[in-house]
Amino acid sequence: MADLKRFLIPWIDDIKPYDTDDLLIAWSRPELKRMMINENPLPPSEKVLQAIVEAAKMGNRYPDNGPRLRAKIAKRYDLGPENVYISHGSSEIIDIIMRLFVTPGDEVLLPHPTFSLYGIRAKTCGGKVVPVDMTSDLQYDIPAMLRAVTPRTKLIIICTPNNPTGDFISDEDLMKIVELGIPTLIDEAYLEYHLEHESKAPLLRRYNHLIVAHTFSKAYGMAGIRFGYALGDEKMIQYFRKVQIPWNTSLLSMAAAEAALDEEDELKRKAAYNNAGVDYVCKELSKIPGLKPYSSNGNYVMIDATDAGVTGRAIVDYVFEKDGVMLKAFTPLRGRGGFFRVSLGSHEENSICVQSIKRFFKDHEREKKG
Ligand SMILES: Cc1ncc(COP(=O)(O)O)c(C=O)c1O
Repeated sequence: MADLKRFLIPWIDDIKPYDTDDLLIAWSRPELKRMMINENPLPPSEKVLQAIVEAAKMGNRYPDNGPRLRAKIAKRYDLGPENVYISHGSSEIIDIIMRLFVTPGDEVLLPHPTFSLYGIRAKTCGGKVVPVDMTSDLQYDIPAMLRAVTPRTKLIIICTPNNPTGDFISDEDLMKIVELGIPTLIDEAYLEYHLEHESKAPLLRRYNHLIVAHTFSKAYGMAGIRFGYALGDEKMIQYFRKVQIPWNTSLLSMAAAEAALDEEDELKRKAAYNNAGVDYVCKELSKIPGLKPYSSNGNYVMIDATDAGVTGRAIVDYVFEKDGVMLKAFTPLRGRGGFFRVSLGSHEENSICVQSIKRFFKDHEREKKG
């Protein structure tokens, strides 16, 4: 047997794969309520399905890089097709920017907590992740982020609204980061849930070091179909093309995305459905003493149970065992161990989840007394 370690990248042991164990469980047990990974509970529309079937008829042919689709996307932002890179979900964009900017020992600055894939892909390139804790009210700590910048900072991540904390970064704070002139990803994965909130894409006309990422996995509800896009200066998009894998977006996913873009009412319907669920979960859970749900602009709600004297993990384990509801627990933040996240499900699933959490606290009270 060869000693692979002699050949492997020296930082291989620092890389942890993105954890998909929950998905394995969820797919093997369809009765479970999948409220742990920020999916959309509503399936693709008939028109999207038809577009996929039509495209599949040409499935013997290699796809192009979607000039018509890129033009359609670009138009929404008053940009040109040369400013759009279409991708296999926005995870691919995250991967590409790491490969473009990060060499071993370079630093990637990001908020904590945030989407874990940024750190994982940075480490794959030998990068050093520099997480900066959000403030106690879960806002970007911009002074701390500015202090954390060093000559080795090659990339800054701004996720807005941030997953899992749910709030947008303010324009004033964002500009303090943008003005640094360091390559910055502005990840707008959840923006389509609040179309009244404007994209930061117009900044691309003035700043060539920004990348704005979008995905069809969230409000459009196409996580399994895999489609996303990056917006950037023409030169930036050309750099993307240098490192990309050809045919990264299938004919099927491009056709689905194009059909979905034409169905604006469907997107609004899905967003409204989600936002009603967010309001319901926040309202119901805030009735439980000591439980603090953070109002969210995404399809998830971050909740802090620390003041109720319990850990997020205890709640997540309870609702899974008693009611088959899958949630996500978080490691302690600023010394508080009560954080967990609810990804919105169908209205029925949201109700089951809320009742289950309420039962957890009733049992907990009983145990404390008894
Ligand atoms: C902030 C953020 N960006 C990007 C993604 C990746 O999504 P996808 O690769 O499905 O587009 C996610 C997924 O949860 C996310 O939360």
